[in-house]
Amino acid sequence: MSVPVITFFNNKGGVGKTSMIYHLSYMFADHGLRVLAADLDPQCNLTAAFIDEERLEEVLRGNQRVRTIYGAVQPLKRGTGDIADPSLEEINDNLRLIAGDLALSSFEDHLAECWPKCLASDERAFRVMSAFWRVLQKAATNWADVVLIDLGPNLGATNRAALIASDFVVIPLSPDLFSLQGLENLGPALKTWRADWQERVPRNPASDLILPPGKIVPVGYMVLRHSIRLDRPVKAYEKWMARIPETYNRAVLDRPPAPDINIDNDNDCIAKLRDYRSLMPLAQEARKPMFFLKPADGAMGAHIHAVQDLYKDFLRLAKIIAGRTGLKLE
Ligand SMILES: Nc1ncnc2c1ncn2[C@@H]1O[C@H](COP(=O)(O)OP(=O)(O)O)[C@@H](O)[C@H]1O
Ligand SMILES: [Mg+2]
Repeated sequence: MSVPVITFFNNKGGVGKTSMIYHLSYMFADHGLRVLAADLDPQCNLTAAFIDEERLEEVLRGNQRVRTIYGAVQPLKRGTGDIADPSLEEINDNLRLIAGDLALSSFEDHLAECWPKCLASDERAFRVMSAFWRVLQKAATNWADVVLIDLGPNLGATNRAALIASDFVVIPLSPDLFSLQGLENLGPALKTWRADWQERVPRNPASDLILPPGKIVPVGYMVLRHSIRLDRPVKAYEKWMARIPETYNRAVLDRPPAPDINIDNDNDCIAKLRDYRSLMPLAQEARKPMFFLKPADGAMGAHIHAVQDLYKDFLRLAKIIAGRTGLKLE
């Protein structure tokens, strides 16, 4: 039995994806799930959110990159062997991190080259294509209940390999033109990757090499940072928000949307999160999720209620994702 992998993906950056994974990791962990968070974005924003600079420097020091996700796949790139064990950063009793690495981008060409070679039953190509999944499963086995992956915003070979390693995908969006354009490209890419991987799997020549199933089941989308002013969405956002359900149904689920669908009645819309404004920088400063902020961290007055509401918002979201991915929260 493999540990379920949930990836958060959108090829438009800056929508709040990394912040979402950071907060959900803590929320899952707070409710008894053992979470392995994996930073597969070479920009390493998730890693920087979890660990401070001093520790980050130790993790990335010199050429000894065995601690990061890149270190774990480096022997394959060098041609000196198969995957290595990354060290896991212990964030708390229920939460561990596989740190990201800027050098991961140097593995991208390799992943691109190996993709077609799988069709010719090339064993090494299969080892390379399944490397992320195998590293994650090795790190998760006997400990984690779930793996959460963060990715950079593109449709490149690294993200393709990470997605075929995923059982589920959650799509964070912001209500703007570029997010919708992203969705138009992302939906067909997911379909193609899923189908192409299914075509490759039977050509694996190595019976001892277990491959990811590559189901990439869409869990739903979340609309992030739609600023609410006086409880009314800003006009400009309304237009884009109204178009999200139709675009998601068509581009990602390949089906016509139900008539009169909108983000309030769409079952695939799993969250609509506000712009948390000043709580976000407070949380970054305190190096903790927004919903754990205390008065001593500067969350005073109206912030206290906002922090409590936030906890409820994130718990509701965590429950929805858990329910749709077969996880059980305490
Ligand atoms: N709900 C939110 N409220 C306020 N600021 C947010 C929110 N979500 C994200 N941010 C801020 O927006 C910026 C981009 O978020 P990030 O999570 O890095 O996006 P992505 O991973 O999609 O590029 C960050 O500076 C983050 O602190
Ligand atoms: Mg990010």
